[in-house]
Amino acid sequence: MKGLRIRQVLREVTVGETIEVSGWVRTRRDSKAGLSFIALNDGSCFNNLQVIAKNSLENYDTDIKKVRNGASISVRGELVESPAKGQRVELVASSITLLGEVHDGYPMQKKRINLDTLRTLAHVRPRTNTIGAVTRVRHHMAMAVHDFFRGNDFFYIHTPIITASDAEGAGEMFQVTTLDVGDAPRTDDGGIDWSQDFFGRQAFMTVSGQLQAEIYACSMGRVYTFGPTFRAENSNTARHASEFWMIEPECAFLELEGNADLAEAFIKHCVNHALTECEEDLAFFDKRIEKGLIDALVAIKDTPFTRITYTDAIALLNKSGQSFKHPTTWGKMLQTEHEKYLTDVVFKGPVIVHDYPAEKAFYMKLNDDEKTVRAMDVLVPRIGEIIGGSEREARLDVLLERIQHHGLDPKDYWWYVDLRRFGTVPHSGFGLGFERLLMMVTGMKNIRDVIPLPRTPRNAEF
Ligand code: 4AD
Ligand code: MG
Repeated sequence: MKGLRIRQVLREVTVGETIEVSGWVRTRRDSKAGLSFIALNDGSCFNNLQVIAKNSLENYDTDIKKVRNGASISVRGELVESPAKGQRVELVASSITLLGEVHDGYPMQKKRINLDTLRTLAHVRPRTNTIGAVTRVRHHMAMAVHDFFRGNDFFYIHTPIITASDAEGAGEMFQVTTLDVGDAPRTDDGGIDWSQDFFGRQAFMTVSGQLQAEIYACSMGRVYTFGPTFRAENSNTARHASEFWMIEPECAFLELEGNADLAEAFIKHCVNHALTECEEDLAFFDKRIEKGLIDALVAIKDTPFTRITYTDAIALLNKSGQSFKHPTTWGKMLQTEHEKYLTDVVFKGPVIVHDYPAEKAFYMKLNDDEKTVRAMDVLVPRIGEIIGGSEREARLDVLLERIQHHGLDPKDYWWYVDLRRFGTVPHSGFGLGFERLLMMVTGMKNIRDVIPLPRTPRNAEF
């Protein structure tokens, strides 16, 4: 790697030094005085470095005066104090090399392009202020995740991406097969003979690493997995992606209250990390994407999350006098409109709803009332659910009963059930949708804009 990163130049390098930088031209402006101002960005930070190109440069007329937005260049020169407002330094070029010129049809011109259009240009959209900032914040949030769990004595484990078990029991899995879909081998009764498939059985892309993380929690004590997960749910919303990243801690000797404490501390840690590490980018989001973002993040960091049972939440919704589209009868799952009412209108901050109706998922610990389970969702303003988790059913007999009750076959979960036979322990965990965390931290409104190359129904370009 040659030269310096612009972030370092803008912050640290002293005036008078001769340096080299490389990047992409954001804009070029020519002055009558026979020089050009080039705003150069290399992705390392939000701000551009201003490059001064004088007409005494040997390629001024042949290259510089023709350089277009988006072209890649290398610049050598002396760093000088900038007379311009808002920047400490600028670079007076002694030589500029044009590395890659821009052909006709470059879509990223100076005028603002809306985010919908940018999605169709995902190969060049990281060159915009917005997507560049999202990309940096995403990186810092991933680092914050590891930082938090390392600090709390968790092991980072890697759960498989291809799996045979439906962790959520919701049947929203993408199948993985090497069989010829047009001419698959058949069993005697005419069905597809999956025993001849690659894994000798049906296999799928994982919807969650939880069940496998439980294996490791029941031996290593505290683990987390952070990887891609896949859901074939046909919901084309601003908060659902078919491929998204999930962070799933799983912890032995932990009950639901401790699980909620862990989730709250985790979110606060990530928010604090964003506030301290991504100042420049957050200032941009606050100004251009979501007014009041920084104040809202500080409040999330500093205020305890509200905790409320599902039953109380339903009562509250019913008393609200609001007319919701979806029913608020006890037993129905909370919909986004309900979640947002709780976070944005009633409590004006994150809310942890716990003890949901027992229909939620087969692995959740059944309460003594036999109607509710020790589940929790963390809801945050603007977005709704950001975390789903629970204490796990650690009792062998109850778990077997729950699997059957949910219409699943205990044989498919034999190893999971075994964990309750061989030294079972109370344990809990949760899953945080990484993209939803990013939507919260950046104020971005659509999940498609916080993941580099989104996969959603009918869309897997790039
Ligand atoms: O609530 P979910 O389905 O919970 C689980 O998968 C558990 N097995 C997690 C666990 O306990 N280890 O998903 C967890 C989170 C949601 O709260 C949401 O933030 C995110 O994953 N999520 C999605 N994010 C983007 N697109 C989707 N289609 C998502 N589905 C869930
Ligand atoms: Mg959920």
